[in-house]
Amino acid sequence: MSKLYKPNSELQKNAYINSMDMYRQLWQHADEQPEVYWDKLAKEKINWIKPYSRVLNSSKAPFYSWFEGGKLNIADQCIDRHLAKNSNKNAIIWESESGKTRKITYKKLSVSVNKFANILINDLGVKKGDRVVIYMPIIPEAACAMLACAKIGAIHVVVFGGFSAEVLRERIIDTKAKVVITADGAYRHGKPYMLKPIVDQALNECPADLCNKVLVVKHNKVEIPFISGRDYDYQSLVKSQKSTFKSEPMDSEDISFILHTSGSTGKPKGIQHTTAGYILWAQYTSEIVFDLKEDSVFWCTADIGWITGHTYGVYGPLAAGATIVMYEGVLTYPDAGRCWKIIEKHHVTQLYTAPTAIRLLHKVGPNEPSKYDLSSLKVLGTVGEPINPEAWLWYYNSVGGGRCPIVDTWWQTETGGHMISPLPGATPIKPGSATLPLPGISVEILDVNGTPVSQGSQGLLCITKPWPSMFRSVWHDSDRYIKSYYDVVKSSDKNRHIYFSGDGAYYDENGYIVVTGRTDDVMNISGHRVSSAEVESAIASHLAVAEVAVVSQLDDISGESIVAYVVYHNNYDNLNMLTILNELNQILTTEIGPIIKIKRLIIVPGLPKTRSGKVLRRLLRSIARDEQPTQDLSTIENPTIVKIIQDISQKAS
Ligand code: PRX
Repeated sequence: MSKLYKPNSELQKNAYINSMDMYRQLWQHADEQPEVYWDKLAKEKINWIKPYSRVLNSSKAPFYSWFEGGKLNIADQCIDRHLAKNSNKNAIIWESESGKTRKITYKKLSVSVNKFANILINDLGVKKGDRVVIYMPIIPEAACAMLACAKIGAIHVVVFGGFSAEVLRERIIDTKAKVVITADGAYRHGKPYMLKPIVDQALNECPADLCNKVLVVKHNKVEIPFISGRDYDYQSLVKSQKSTFKSEPMDSEDISFILHTSGSTGKPKGIQHTTAGYILWAQYTSEIVFDLKEDSVFWCTADIGWITGHTYGVYGPLAAGATIVMYEGVLTYPDAGRCWKIIEKHHVTQLYTAPTAIRLLHKVGPNEPSKYDLSSLKVLGTVGEPINPEAWLWYYNSVGGGRCPIVDTWWQTETGGHMISPLPGATPIKPGSATLPLPGISVEILDVNGTPVSQGSQGLLCITKPWPSMFRSVWHDSDRYIKSYYDVVKSSDKNRHIYFSGDGAYYDENGYIVVTGRTDDVMNISGHRVSSAEVESAIASHLAVAEVAVVSQLDDISGESIVAYVVYHNNYDNLNMLTILNELNQILTTEIGPIIKIKRLIIVPGLPKTRSGKVLRRLLRSIARDEQPTQDLSTIENPTIVKIIQDISQKAS
């Protein structure tokens, strides 16, 4: 048995769930009487405008609905209900790369969101149910835009500011968005970068009836072209808006937002989240997993373009009435101590970040945390990828001073909130394990027939009962919802609907869950989900490329990095490798965004395929990672190619 780190007794005293006995009892109660458990939580946590009549409707499973008949508003839950007691408390503390700070109280946030909502309705003509694309940097107006959509009942579609015009256009078209909210630009590494010109580029090739209004927040003040009649200046409009707005009463099951994420095939899927179930779990998990209290100062470093930035960057901690920190820049700018300086300056009590960031901070400044007063920290969180023991131990000892529990939280865009995580006042922790499922969450590790695997054996990480914050479907593609998630692991019991996450996992010697990563053709680069197919289709557009297969290798900082196996067309054999690598990376920047780059390019004479022509990516992955292939090579159409690729790969590494 490996060493377990016990919760610190000081934190344990006031934690929501403060012993393993309490955790086990709660988990068992939720498992035996799920509707009683969820009913109690929903009544306790949500400010209902109208009470619901039914907790769970499974009659169309796996299309579930929760809290039917109820009405509420997410913006009320996150802001307005706190005003009576906490109107002068900071809701948002924002810091720019240059060190400029803005502090926004709950009262001020409520006024800003109301004014924003009035602009959306009165000036931009947005109505309940319309889709609004948000393409913004990390500034308070980004959170206001999301909350204003919630206030009026519009569905937001946040697109990560590092994605290209191509991706932005696809998402505008996929959701038939009516409006884009953006900023002129922002700063990274001390230099301005632009967003509005990318919006212009995206809209240039959009069907004319989509997105004919663009709301622009002036932020970095770099001059931008303004298209009269289409572009609206936020700062001018906001001056004349009323500071009140009556929130739209939303049905529990109304869609609150769509967020796209990569799957193993096809284009990214628009994951559809609802209102009541989503905010309930966002709030409750913020409370129990981070031990969030009203005096907490919570800093989630994720961009709002990802689900972590939605659930724990904005919604969950505000619903819990805490203060959130938003930082618009690079964690290591201008130096390796920046992250720790922010914690010291704003007395951050919980830090939530990704293993990639932890590894980078460790590499660039292993002793930096000791130069700052980090005594305000109580809980440390990690998310997005498996964390290696070295990074975990540095985070625990050097950042947390050996007194802050690390919550290694496993979840996904689809799950809406945490599924597997330690509880800081209860669960003994260890490096590399997200430990146990949260109360109400039924996690099982199964084989493809739905049979549980034995301890220590690899299996498929599944969730076998519905939960309120689960996504309800893929936008306009309910077949894909079933096929991608519910058709992979099949049980003989037709009434059992098994959600397969796409991840592999096993139970370790402590009975804890260890997530080993994706089992499909999805890569995890710096905690970002990218499908091999998306990257391959961009690379294949280069004139020299006849065939391509993309896999990931392990990487010290980004967890995984991209290896591209490329077969040239005839007559392209003498190309310079560096030139072609730069050209391919340029294509990836244009098609997807600068976050996706090929780390290793390997030119090969052919790709290993089955007789039916399917490329054996898993075999290529083993070769890229210098692992002994375990795949059955007898089905390969051209078996000699394997040895050739192995030799070329070894020479290239
Ligand atoms: O492979 C798992 C990995 O991230 C995937 C989900 O990615 P996304 O939907 O972008 O959401 C990321 C943030 C919630 C999962 O299928 N993943 C997430 N958390 C962990 C993880 N892998 C290991 N350990 C984790 N704690």
